[in-house]
Amino acid sequence: MSSPSSRQVDSPGQALDQVVDQAVYDLLVIDDDQSAIGLVTDILSLEKFRVHGAADAHAGLDLISRLRPPLVLLDLVLPGVSGMDLLKRILAFDPSIDVILVTGHYSMESAVEAIQKGAYDYLAKPLQVDRFLQKLGKWRGDASARLRTGMLEAELAQACQFEGIVGRSPSMLDVFSKIRRIAPHFQTALVTGESGTGKESVAKALHSLSPYSTGPFVVCNCAAIPENLFESELFGHSQGAFTGATREKVGFVESAQGGTLFLDEIGEIPLAAQAKLLRLLQNSEIQRVGTSRTKQVDLRIVAATNRDLRRLVDENRLREDLYYRLSMIEVGLPKLADRKEDLPLLQRHFLDRFASRYGKQHLNLTRRVQAVLANHNWAGNIRELENVLSYCCMMAEGEQIDIRDLPDYLQKQVRQDIAEGDDLLVPMRTMELRHLQRVLAHVNGNRGKAAEILGISRTTIYRLLEEQSNLEEQTEK
Ligand SMILES: Nc1ncnc2c1ncn2[C@@H]1O[C@H](COP(=O)(O)OP(=O)(O)OP(=O)(O)O)[C@@H](O)[C@H]1O
Ligand SMILES: [Mg+2]
Repeated sequence: MSSPSSRQVDSPGQALDQVVDQAVYDLLVIDDDQSAIGLVTDILSLEKFRVHGAADAHAGLDLISRLRPPLVLLDLVLPGVSGMDLLKRILAFDPSIDVILVTGHYSMESAVEAIQKGAYDYLAKPLQVDRFLQKLGKWRGDASARLRTGMLEAELAQACQFEGIVGRSPSMLDVFSKIRRIAPHFQTALVTGESGTGKESVAKALHSLSPYSTGPFVVCNCAAIPENLFESELFGHSQGAFTGATREKVGFVESAQGGTLFLDEIGEIPLAAQAKLLRLLQNSEIQRVGTSRTKQVDLRIVAATNRDLRRLVDENRLREDLYYRLSMIEVGLPKLADRKEDLPLLQRHFLDRFASRYGKQHLNLTRRVQAVLANHNWAGNIRELENVLSYCCMMAEGEQIDIRDLPDYLQKQVRQDIAEGDDLLVPMRTMELRHLQRVLAHVNGNRGKAAEILGISRTTIYRLLEEQSNLEEQTEK
């Protein structure tokens, strides 16, 4: 039997609509005329607004910092301060606040100036009830749309995260499902994928969903250890095991006891150490360098690589038996370029993270920037996206991140795309002339060489150059 409340709300969408419809917004009126504040309170007594009043700039700013009202009704003429200045200060404090300026002396010029300075709207005094309610109705419509989008985005971002890994593309949903099934049982797992695709994040997810999650997660980057120290770093050594081994050492494996050892860049493991690693994977035992005793260990191992391990086997750089042992349980990560449908979610995820890290407002990407990011090839995958958005958030001055906030290499790409776009829309003859110029520049103006490369006669080159200079003359005129 369904409860009355479950009958009222049929779908999550309807629940969201209800929240949006029933939202009550704070409205701050800054006006030295107490009766103006009273009037607004009366007019809005039946509307979904909570009206607050402030008689001067100081009290107004104080209430703004405490209440964060989404809407402010600001008198243009206040004692000791101009409404325009106060508008600037309010927007500097929080650009997301909508300010409606109210003035007794309505003029078109100051209305335009107010809007240019960032006011949401401009109204004449005395307030005409109908007109005022109409404006607030419009504002409420905008605010509801913003609230709805924000809630949907947050809901979506929440739903499309798995242990901090964001994605909802079919390939990422596969990855999530694999992790969920593998984590409780695996002893050894291999995570593959290009650089920056999230291999370490997957390793951490495997760890935190495994029965060993209360133990440590130890990272060992195989590429960073000198070949001659590899065994002792991984398995430890006894005192005096070799010159310089002045003290006993616990290796990575032992320090990950009861937890997970993440062997990053496993493709770089020296051949000499591979047999010992295989023994660890097969028998859970290790031998410290310089001792003959073996020791049982209890841990899980996640290895990762961005290399083709099969190829390393063919090149005799990886033992085949180790390869089979490692690759039995494999989680392969897709390139970002192959799952661009995840871009909007990932962008939101990183924008929120960096906005809060750098103490900024809610940040958004302009449509132009979204297009640039969607067209980029993302060779560095999620790490590159993360770095780009971190940079953009640092550079952003307002709420919107635009082309000028992008790292130089992406801005350069934009300029190049525009230039190439220009190339698309020119007549064939112009392209020929441009190509000739490029070839001439390449051969330092040597027309004989240019003629050879282009497969045309020198006479044709002269003719083309003449044509070009005629064209240039015409354009100058
Ligand atoms: N799906 C994802 N959602 C959110 N953040 C992600 C995702 N994948 C990766 N990241 C983030 O991107 C960065 C790179 O991820 P990670 O270090 O796991 O990649 P990697 O494959 O190990 O890279 P490399 O090969 O360069 O070592 C990290 O900061 C990580 O938190
Ligand atoms: Mg990594």
